Amino acid sequence: QKGGYDTFMLKEIYEQPEAIRETLRGRVEKEKIHLEDLEKLDLEKINRVYFVACGTAWHAGIYANSLFQKWIDVPSICVAASEFRYSDPHIDDKTLCVYISQSGETADTLAALKMSKEKGAQTISIVNVLGSSISRASDVTLYTCAGPEIAVASTKAFTTQLALVTLLILKMAELRHTTVDCKAELLEGLKRMPEVVSEMLDKHELMKQYAAFLKNQEDAYFIGRQLDYVSVLEGALKLKEVSYVHADAYFAGELKHGAIALIEKDTVVIAMATQPEVAAKTISNIEETMARGANVILITTKDQPAPKFKYVIRIPDVHPLLAVIPVTILLQLFAYYAAVEKGRDVDKPRNLAKSVTVE
Ligand code: F6R
Repeated sequence: QKGGYDTFMLKEIYEQPEAIRETLRGRVEKEKIHLEDLEKLDLEKINRVYFVACGTAWHAGIYANSLFQKWIDVPSICVAASEFRYSDPHIDDKTLCVYISQSGETADTLAALKMSKEKGAQTISIVNVLGSSISRASDVTLYTCAGPEIAVASTKAFTTQLALVTLLILKMAELRHTTVDCKAELLEGLKRMPEVVSEMLDKHELMKQYAAFLKNQEDAYFIGRQLDYVSVLEGALKLKEVSYVHADAYFAGELKHGAIALIEKDTVVIAMATQPEVAAKTISNIEETMARGANVILITTKDQPAPKFKYVIRIPDVHPLLAVIPVTILLQLFAYYAAVEKGRDVDKPRNLAKSVTVE
């Protein structure tokens, strides 16, 4: 059942090239994106958009919202479902609500969906489980084709969500007659993503070695800016839930407003600097943690100068808007090996359920 892997989590991490390929299959043809179901909606009249989800899926929502805001001139926000459903949001038939859920059964996400439908919203769901409650209740469902995800910690569901929401937002831009200059490059990048992911999986020994830095540590800090912040949130959540190491996620520029007080000799800092406009700034923030003795692992691009760093992983050339996928693979491996090192039950972390059907 585990296909020769020790755990479902590791198997599912390794299934990602195929899961992404399957999710893209039939949906991208040269520069054309096939998401015909969207024609059921009246996207031209939309004047407000909410992305709503929980946990890891919420991180995919933050990513989707960032792309949406970059390209489409309509106010949008990403909100955790458990907050959204109680927030009495402004919703009418010009509102689009996009729900993201692996299981399609998360109680808060489902309740938020039902509430928004009652108020007249148009709804899209991005779901992995066929025929699940969220898929049945929404106007349009786009399936991630990750296959069954058994391990409690979400891995392949997340990266397929990232790939699919990229297509969704590009398609929405097209339907609203907005030109996205890098569209061809992004589509090409997505098609190449399975190979990029495989290249990242080949770094497993290195991630195991870095995860051992946490041996005598109880905390870790994940730092980045802009889209790297999505990887930062996801990396910290993954580490917490499977290894029980306390992990915080910070914007690099926010460190000096408080959290840097926590950095001392041997504190583990995992820094992401893949976004070209801000990478140098992030690197200088991280050097400040190094000056205080932090043990820094830096994930950056091929050509970013980082002369002061001892532990550097460089991701392959991908469009910066897609960098969160290869970075996430590294962080999944990092969390996995940290958990193994600490002897945790990787597939069934304490206190957690695969599908949260309680509120
Ligand atoms: C984290 C994780 C959870 C889920 C969250 C939402 O690894 O698995 O945070 O992402 O419970 O679940 P779905 O996507 O099924 O709605």
